[in-house]
Amino acid sequence: MKNSDAPELKETICETVHESVPMDVVGRSVFRPDAPQKLTGQARYVNDLSVGGMLHAAVVRSPHASAIIKSINTKKAESMPGVAAVMTCEDLPGPNYIPLVKNDLPLLAPGEVKFVAQPVALVAAETLEQAREAARAVEVEYEELEPALGIDAGLKKDWILWHYQQFTGDPEAVFNNPEPGMHIYESTYTTSHQEHVYLETNGALAIPDNRGGFLVYGSMQCPFYVQKAVATVLGLDFQHVRIVQATTGGGFGGKEDAPSTPACLASVLSWKTNRPVKLIYGREEDMESMTKRHPSRTVFKSAVDKDGYIKAIDVHYYVDGGAFLTLSSIVLWRGLLHAGGPYKIPNVRTLADAVGTNTAPNGAFRGFGQPQVAFAADAHWDEVANQIGMDPVEFKRKNMLRVGDKLTSGQYLGESVGFDEVVEKVKKEIDYESVKALPKLTGRYRRGVGLSVSHYGVGLGANGGPNNFSSANVVVAADGSVVVSVGTTEIGQGMTTALLQMAAETLRCPYERLHLADSDTAQVPDSGPTVASRTTMCAGRAVVDACKIIRERMDEFLGDEEISWSESVTKCWIGGVQMAAQGYSRPGYKLTFDDKTGHGDTYEIYAWCANAADVTVDTWTGEVKVNKFVSGQDIGRAVNPVLVEGQIQGGALQGIGYTLMEEYKFNKAGHIMNNNLSTYIVPTSTDVPPIVPVIVEHEYSFGPYGAKGFGETPMVPVAPAIVNAIADATGLRFKHIPVTPERVWEALQKQKEEQAGVDQV
Ligand code: MOS
Repeated sequence: MKNSDAPELKETICETVHESVPMDVVGRSVFRPDAPQKLTGQARYVNDLSVGGMLHAAVVRSPHASAIIKSINTKKAESMPGVAAVMTCEDLPGPNYIPLVKNDLPLLAPGEVKFVAQPVALVAAETLEQAREAARAVEVEYEELEPALGIDAGLKKDWILWHYQQFTGDPEAVFNNPEPGMHIYESTYTTSHQEHVYLETNGALAIPDNRGGFLVYGSMQCPFYVQKAVATVLGLDFQHVRIVQATTGGGFGGKEDAPSTPACLASVLSWKTNRPVKLIYGREEDMESMTKRHPSRTVFKSAVDKDGYIKAIDVHYYVDGGAFLTLSSIVLWRGLLHAGGPYKIPNVRTLADAVGTNTAPNGAFRGFGQPQVAFAADAHWDEVANQIGMDPVEFKRKNMLRVGDKLTSGQYLGESVGFDEVVEKVKKEIDYESVKALPKLTGRYRRGVGLSVSHYGVGLGANGGPNNFSSANVVVAADGSVVVSVGTTEIGQGMTTALLQMAAETLRCPYERLHLADSDTAQVPDSGPTVASRTTMCAGRAVVDACKIIRERMDEFLGDEEISWSESVTKCWIGGVQMAAQGYSRPGYKLTFDDKTGHGDTYEIYAWCANAADVTVDTWTGEVKVNKFVSGQDIGRAVNPVLVEGQIQGGALQGIGYTLMEEYKFNKAGHIMNNNLSTYIVPTSTDVPPIVPVIVEHEYSFGPYGAKGFGETPMVPVAPAIVNAIADATGLRFKHIPVTPERVWEALQKQKEEQAGVDQV
């Protein structure tokens, strides 16, 4: 639907928007201010934007996973109708890399390509068709090389992108000289790629400004990352690059660092032509070239004593990083620190490696390296509990972290561990004992129950550097309306609502008088990235800080007089009270990490999660039906309970897709075989089971109104809950996800054959 066709805002929606909300607004499910425009189709996504004189861009991409570029001939393309510019890495105005951890990702391939769909050349033309036509006419001569595909192939080439480790206690002593009755078990768990499937594909519109700089619109989570990237490739000061986030229909991590690439590609063409340039990726192009969740392999060995206490773990966690480091080191770090699960483990050796392979770089995806280790750990512990004849939930209870315990990093847990309450409530809500007690292993349909747990270090932690800090500006206008400006973004998660609720409560101002500024780097301060479930906690803390400053000034000036918000503002304005302030947020205490030992106070606070699945396995078809899914979270404080429930349900469903359906298939040449949404299968509305959110609030003393972040946590331990339930139902223990019907059916056939063999003996 074009914007001009969008219906007028309905009266009923406007009424809702202007309905007065009481001032004790934190903890209420108030309306989201961004909803009406999104519901009516009036919100403008990047591809809805156009300006006069705008060119359209197309990208020439590598057809090979690994090859030397022998030559590029742009002559023919340049002479084609409508073509304004053709560019290769030779024509760039500044350095040829996207700035990230190691600055290793080139903007345009320099002499070699390392993954299929890597950008090699660029075309800008008057129409999109002309641009695409000309892109096809760019002649590139390649010399193909043998690609490394998969973790083993990367390891064979010693292609290690990054390494982390953690050593605690003396695991070797435990494993080498086991106490009597000690149970030692090792197993390996593997996971596949996952696609974000955000609503709209990546894209950008770059426009030259009047002072030698550029304005860039795009779909993104982190405008300041994009600013840094565009400034780098154009060789400009940050202040000459203005980035504006267009309405963004979900990111899930896929719009963390990745949007820098289309923004830079559009910007260099705009620099070259001195005209606005729009670049919108097609869905297949987006799926082939952009980041995905890292496939992983976790070798997990444990020692448990005769009473069921965990004594030691020895874990090796590998992720498939793809062809460039990008964010893999940070993803790896989060995995390292959560590898054993949320348990007391006195003796630890964890090794973590990001392996290079010839696929598109894998990157940020909700959970950020944690869903992989959570699957390994909580499937492992479930198996171990069964092996030693203990109920898995009982086993978890025995070993779970509580206030006063230490993490494997040595970090002391001083507060806000609502873990017992979460597990208790989730167990009750799924009716664990009853489903567990059902007869198993007979008949076509087999039902089982599984439970899993996880902790989640909120925010970027000790690895985050300057991105741990947040600023916020709050400006009260003379009419009593208020603008809150932050550098974090609304990506559908509900940031606007949560931040404005906290601002309203702190200012004691009616909620509907508050507005959030557009995420425009020329208007808002850098609040750090919108990642790592940090926005409510970090940006929220900065907003509350700014509002407190203004409210204190008002209180001091007004005294105890009981007057309305509007009257207060008028009086303060006339009286010369400064009605604007900047707030600041830093972590609750100093974060540390030691590279050698893996020890330190790594995250300021943790969210706690338990998931439970009740499943039925159809032994004729191999299909796994989730009958009910319960997801419990200790989030500190629910600023807006309905939004919290939405995040929990969305995360759980994304996790269900990850566990049962989603998988990229690559051929031997490194091409994705299912590069579109009819062959890459995700859950649809018909696949949604009843998902019951359970909210637990153990407030964090340094969080705004007690809140911690939790946006990713609901996605983290979904796979182990389902896989544990399948094991309960069928006796089959799956160590690779997704657990597709084909894999279940094959395993059932094998189980049948083995049982027949046993019967014959
Ligand atoms: Mo997120 S996966 O930290 O963008």
